[in-house]
Amino acid sequence: SFKPSTVQVTKPVTPTTATFRDDLFKGKVVLSTGGRSGIVYKMIRVMMAHGADAAILGRNGPENEKAAAQLSKETGRTCLPCQADVRKPEDLKAAAKKAFEKFGRIDFVICGAAGNFDPRADEGGSLAPIEGLSENAFKTVVDIDLLGTYNTIKATLPYVRESQGSYIHISATLHYRGLPYQAHVSAAKAGVDALSAVLAVEEGPRGMLTFFWSTRPISGTEGMAKLSPKGDRNNDAMPLGRWGDGDEIAAMAMFLFSDSANWITGQVFVVDGGENHVRVPQ
Ligand code: HXC
Repeated sequence: SFKPSTVQVTKPVTPTTATFRDDLFKGKVVLSTGGRSGIVYKMIRVMMAHGADAAILGRNGPENEKAAAQLSKETGRTCLPCQADVRKPEDLKAAAKKAFEKFGRIDFVICGAAGNFDPRADEGGSLAPIEGLSENAFKTVVDIDLLGTYNTIKATLPYVRESQGSYIHISATLHYRGLPYQAHVSAAKAGVDALSAVLAVEEGPRGMLTFFWSTRPISGTEGMAKLSPKGDRNNDAMPLGRWGDGDEIAAMAMFLFSDSANWITGQVFVVDGGENHVRVPQ
C-alpha cells in the first residue's frame, strides 16, 4: 500500500522576506521545456533576473541557442541551451544530466512545451474539428503536451528530489468545457492536470511541490497566433478588458517558486483575466 515519506522539509516562512526579493533565486537552477519564446521565456527571464541560472530545452537547436544567449545577455546569468524533443525521453535525460553537470543542481522545472495546429486554409481557415483531425494529428499533440510533460518529470525527478525543488506544469482552461476544434489540446491538458495532482501526492512529503496553472489568452505567444491568427479576438469577453502578457504569468511563477508558496501543492491556478468565468447568454 502507498506510504508517504515522513520526511518533513518545508518550514513556515514570513511572506515579506520570502517573496520578490532581488536575490530570490540566487544559487538556484531552473530547467524548462518550451523556453525559447512566449510565456516560458518570460518566466525564465524573470527568474534569471532574480538570480537563477537556467537550462532551456527545445527542438530547434539554433533558435534555442539564440534565446539562451539573449536571456544571458538580458540578465547577466547563465542560460544553457539543450537540444531536446519532449517526445524523446533519451533527449530529456541527456539534457537534464547536462544541466546538472553544468550547475550541480536542478531546483525548479517548468513543463511548458506544447503544440497546436494552425487553422487550415483548405478547411475554410477553421481550427481542427475532431472529424478533420487525423489519428496521427491528435496523437501528435497528446505526445507533445501530455507525454512530453511526463517524460520531462521522469528525466528530472532524481535531481529535483535531491534539491527538494518544485514543478510548474503549464495547462489551459480549454478542457473545463467543450471548446470546439480543440479536442487534441483539451484532452492533453486534462491529462496534464491529472498527472500533476498525482505527482504532488506521491512526492509532496519528500518536499517536492507541484504547482500548475492554466492560462489563456496571452498575447504575443505562438498559441494565440494559432488560435487567433488575425489578432481579432473579442476583448469584450475578457472581464479585465484585455489579453494578458507573459510577464503577468511570470509573476505567478515567482510566487509559486518562492518559499511563500511552501504550503501549496498540486493546485491549479487559473491566470486568465477572468475569461474562464465568462458565459455568453445563448
Ligand atoms: C489538422 C494537422 C494540422 C492542422 C498538422 N496536422 N497541421 N491536422 N490541422 N492545421 C497533422 C499532420 O497532417 C500530421 O498528421 C500530424 O498533424 C503531425 O503533423 P507534423 O507536421 O508531422 O507534426 P510536427 O512536425 O511534429 O509538429 C507538431 C506541431 C507543431 C504541433 C504541428 O506546430 C509544433 O510542435 N508546434 C509547437 C509550438 C506550438 O504550436 N505552440 C503553441 C502551443 S498552443 P498525418 O495524419 O498527416 O500524419 C497551446 C494551446 C493552449 O498549448 C491554449 C492557450 C489558449
